[in-house]
Amino acid sequence: MSELQVSPEVFQNQLCLRLHHACGDSVLVALYGAHILSWTSGAAERLYLSPQAVFDGHAAIRGGVPVCFPQFNMRGSLPKHGFARTSVWTQIAADADAVTTALELQLHSSPATLAVWPHAFTTTLRIEIAPGTLQVTFTVDNTGSAPLDFALALHTYLRIQNLPGVQLQGLAAQPYWDDVAQTNRLEPGTVTFDGEVDRVYQAAPEALTLVDGDVQLRIVQSDNLADTVVWNPGAIKCAAMADMPDTGFEQMLCVEAAQVNTPITVLAGAQWTGWQRISVL
Ligand code: BG6
Repeated sequence: MSELQVSPEVFQNQLCLRLHHACGDSVLVALYGAHILSWTSGAAERLYLSPQAVFDGHAAIRGGVPVCFPQFNMRGSLPKHGFARTSVWTQIAADADAVTTALELQLHSSPATLAVWPHAFTTTLRIEIAPGTLQVTFTVDNTGSAPLDFALALHTYLRIQNLPGVQLQGLAAQPYWDDVAQTNRLEPGTVTFDGEVDRVYQAAPEALTLVDGDVQLRIVQSDNLADTVVWNPGAIKCAAMADMPDTGFEQMLCVEAAQVNTPITVLAGAQWTGWQRISVL
């Protein structure tokens, strides 16, 4: 890979890496959280990053692609959404072939993680771009001597042009947990957005399509991720979030490749890999 394909960049005082593709697409990744802050494809930004996101090296960054590991939300004793998004990762590799360019970052268990989560692990985040496509692949190596259970969400904030007109297709007939109504439901058809939406869907067998005016995205996740989380805070919750502008909810939609209802188990010495892929249609 030519050095030009990965270049260091400082964004909001955070050390970042910019991965370039010959077609002009690029991603910007902070070492803090292995957090993707930007994906430009076809000269358009495809991810939402809050203009009020906090970059103090302690808070989770609002927007982009946070990696939620090893806990989802408040479903456990760890800090919300786990510690991966608030840990500093290291770059381990970059490579390219005729179609894709990729960057890999790693996080290892440390005295700090072992103090709150008693498992030895290495996680690797592979960020791959091809023309019009971003794929994020997450791997866990269990480097300990006992099985390791975890939850995961690749918590992608998609940039939206017109939320009231957005349609998320492909979840019809899927059961979901409605975290707003605190009840289980079945999705009757296309998901639309009017007010707070916070749902854990059983992952659909086929790709999802997000229709947002003249932009259409195809969203796919690996078969071994059982859930898809769909989240938009709506006007009231958004206004109460210090790291979002009041109208920020109109410009974002999270569609998260996840497994949160039942843990993923990795046996001692074994490895697990799952991914999310987003393509501009
Ligand atoms: C989503 C959850 O995945 O993340 C929501 O379903 C949560 O309940 C949202 O509010 C944002 O979480 P955070 O910690 O980044 O504010």
